Amino acid sequence: MIGEEISVCGWVHRRRDHGGVIFIDLRDREGLLQVVFDPDRPEIFAEAERIRGEFVLAVKGKVRQRPDGTINPNMRTGQIEVLAHELVTLNDSETPPFHHDEQANEDIRLKYRYLDLRRENMLGNLRLRHAVTRAMRNYLDDHGFIDVETPMLTRATPEGARDYIVPSRTNPGKFFALPQSPQIFKQLLMMSGLDRYYQIVRCFRDEDLRADRQPEFTQLDIEMSFVDEAAVTDTMEDMVRELFRQVMDVELPSEFPRISYAEAMQRYGSDKPDLRIPLELIEVADLMQSVEFKVFAGPAADPEGRVAALCLPGGSELSRKEIDDYTAFVARYGARGLAYIKVNDVSAGRDGLQSPILKFLPDDAVSGIMERTGAKDGDLIFFGADKARVVNDALGALRVKVGEDRGLVQEGWQPLWVVDFPMFEQDQHSKRWMSLHHPFTAPAVDDAEAVKAEPGQVLSRAYDMVLNGSEIGGGSIRIHDQSMQAAVFELLGISDEEAEEKFGFLLRALEYGCPPHGGIAFGLDRMVMLMAGADSIRDVIAFPKTQTASCPLTNAPGEVSEEQLKETGIRIRAPRSE
Ligand code: AMO
Ligand code: AMP
Repeated sequence: MIGEEISVCGWVHRRRDHGGVIFIDLRDREGLLQVVFDPDRPEIFAEAERIRGEFVLAVKGKVRQRPDGTINPNMRTGQIEVLAHELVTLNDSETPPFHHDEQANEDIRLKYRYLDLRRENMLGNLRLRHAVTRAMRNYLDDHGFIDVETPMLTRATPEGARDYIVPSRTNPGKFFALPQSPQIFKQLLMMSGLDRYYQIVRCFRDEDLRADRQPEFTQLDIEMSFVDEAAVTDTMEDMVRELFRQVMDVELPSEFPRISYAEAMQRYGSDKPDLRIPLELIEVADLMQSVEFKVFAGPAADPEGRVAALCLPGGSELSRKEIDDYTAFVARYGARGLAYIKVNDVSAGRDGLQSPILKFLPDDAVSGIMERTGAKDGDLIFFGADKARVVNDALGALRVKVGEDRGLVQEGWQPLWVVDFPMFEQDQHSKRWMSLHHPFTAPAVDDAEAVKAEPGQVLSRAYDMVLNGSEIGGGSIRIHDQSMQAAVFELLGISDEEAEEKFGFLLRALEYGCPPHGGIAFGLDRMVMLMAGADSIRDVIAFPKTQTASCPLTNAPGEVSEEQLKETGIRIRAPRSE
């Protein structure tokens, strides 16, 4: 290498003028290389003086060892430099709106996304994503899965979000929906005898956006025939283990723990528990049945209520302000308060405790709490009392929040399966039944009448894969019997006509020899986000959208011409004023 003549092209990462000698760190996707321009070569030195950040250069020169004392151990090429003897400026650059090392505002980053992607960590994320999809494809190819594309212009696919719709010019007044997932098509492919299908596919959902949700996102979508739950989950576990081995050099557990939905809610208040946080919700309703404190006694006596405790080791050092902040935090989840007990000295009994609610609690309730939570000197016990849904949401979120704030999140990877979900949940207000997954998920019982008799009691054959508190995949064994599918539609309040209009093709397909089948879809963006250690899936998507589902780079969504509107038979009403 030393003494060799080389040609390099790239961007000016940094330029330094050291008393007559000009140093440029030239950057390409592999990293940086120091190029030296010596005033002894006036023909290129003048050009080197003109060069600024992000100019694009082609340089020829000789590789040499850096002089002693100028070696940079933090740089992969820190031992060497190139003494330039030819320089062509391929393009100039305006001064970029932000520098590589700068914490730029996300709107600016998205507006100039092509510059943002020049950053080493963003490029690294895209490469990681590529490594993940390549490993997925290799695994699935080796295991007999066939990659099939499914339509983007289609009908509504019920995954529970709003549809993105596309007007049809050739059928005026009619609309396509962009798929929320390829769910129905992959089931039809099983009916066609494909046996094992996969697709890395874009899905579209018009829903409230968060750090781990985008209006268009990518699934690794999978379906298999003649399988039960174990066949799907075993294969997928094996695939995810292989991915982590190949891409991250991480060995995941040889068996992922499985917990039921009910247990997950009971212990973690969440159906996607982060098992890296060693805190659990503890049931105390039975201790509160007859206490005077109405805040606790009410929910304790309510069959839909819950009273739970969360013991935070070392928490008694929390200030009044910190506790107030946590109270405001749980209020976002509907909690009407956040009672607590500070544990100063367990051996002193009541006198060793400090709490605004202590005076309302009799001795046996207090000793019951202490025993059950196993609280030690210096701990703090939080309480939630309300409808079970509110307590789970609030304490479930608080568990993660205090876990993070107090540095209790353990290192490493904690995958698990959540199983035995209820088939349906009832809307609070309308009392209508809704699918917890989607309407094609099979119930754990085969008898359609039994499902209709007690919808709230029926479990489904669904499974979610959870990793470090994030739902990275979900799927189920499907209904493959026409009468069961019809019964589920009926329960969901979908009339025969509507079922026929929307899903008639599926109901018909179920009558022509449908194999038992099941599958799963992984959120690729979420998986890569976790692997990259990123905080948002936007950081692992080349061109993502903002929280308001728009794109600052292209300014999409945009207006369309009168002509286009006319062609598709659409008239815009005056926009609603805010
Ligand atoms: P589900 O709706 O659970 O299942 O989606 C599967 C996985 O996709 C990811 N995901 C998202 N990622 C980013 N942004 C979003 N808006 C978003 N929504 C979902 C999650 C989720 O686990 N057809 C079924 C799968 C099946 O039954 O086989 C489905 O789409 O990681
Ligand atoms: P109050 O009697 O409303 O002043 O409440 C006494 C204590 O109980 C305060 O610390 C409140 O934050 C707490 N609290 C009130 N409602 C609830 C609730 N639903 N769950 C848990 N704690 C509560």
